[in-house]
Amino acid sequence: MQVRNKTILVTGATGGIGALLCRQLAARGARLVLNCTSPEKLSMLRAELGAEHIAIPADVSTPVGRQSIVRVCSDAGGIDGLVNLAGILDFNMFQNQESALIARILEVNTVAPVLLTRELLPMLIGRNEARILNVGSIFGSIGHPGFTVYCASKAAIKTFSEALSRELADTGVSVAYIAPRATSTALNGDRVTALNLALGNKTDTPALVAVSIADMFEGNSRRRFLGWPEKLFVHINALLPAVVHKALVKNLPIIKKHAL
Ligand SMILES: NC(=O)c1ccc[n+]([C@@H]2O[C@H](COP(=O)([O-])OP(=O)(O)OC[C@H]3O[C@@H](n4cnc5c(N)ncnc54)[C@H](OP(=O)(O)O)[C@@H]3O)[C@@H](O)[C@H]2O)c1
Repeated sequence: MQVRNKTILVTGATGGIGALLCRQLAARGARLVLNCTSPEKLSMLRAELGAEHIAIPADVSTPVGRQSIVRVCSDAGGIDGLVNLAGILDFNMFQNQESALIARILEVNTVAPVLLTRELLPMLIGRNEARILNVGSIFGSIGHPGFTVYCASKAAIKTFSEALSRELADTGVSVAYIAPRATSTALNGDRVTALNLALGNKTDTPALVAVSIADMFEGNSRRRFLGWPEKLFVHINALLPAVVHKALVKNLPIIKKHAL
């Protein structure tokens, strides 16, 4: 779907990937509804992008936050697109993770985008053409030690996207899922960056990922995995999970060392 003259809501708009994605979409002629929890970060981003864009500080994981997002979208005359990008991550061995943080990851990464999509769906279905793009992760397809809950949160979004795209096939709303690999943003923190270096994992720039997300939003594809060889590993893991299991289990001592 071409974004020119379209109104698109982006959650997580001020993040490492989000700010660059918003620059891309704005440069391609979209009017944006920008969301994250921080009013200060949003006003800086809006000052950079232009006053035609709208900022709505709100926690997407709360009913009140989503209500205010839906109200602003409605006041803006409705939206043509939604990018569910807001996300959080915690790198730790599962047995050491606090229950509250486990629940928070699932709330922000999974429950929030599912409910926001549901709450905005009447508005999107009201358009002749609309698009929902959910941002997952390569870890949504490959269960990785040290990231168990994050993996589960993104796997749910992957299957949600697939099911919803089929359910809405007789409407004007298309649903897509894009899965970046490791990307150099604040999401990862020092320990994940050190782990990626130790494991020889490649890391993309947020600029490259932002362009890929904007391109996917403007295209027709329903699913995309970013990065080579990660996209190959996704397919190997689906067909021959024992092979990937063995390779990842070999890395356990390194993963445990960095998780401490
Ligand atoms: N970086 C990677 O390696 C990587 C790889 C694969 C997939 N991804 C996915 O890409 C997305 C963006 O990641 P990123 O690297 O850009 O992360 P980031 O730099 O940490 O940005 C995250 C964004 O989400 C917002 N956010 C967090 N919790 C929120 C909430 N409850 N309500 C509204 N906004 C919220 C943050 O703003 P506030 O905290 O100010 O609200 C920020 O704008 C995430 O879904 C992530 O899982 C990232």
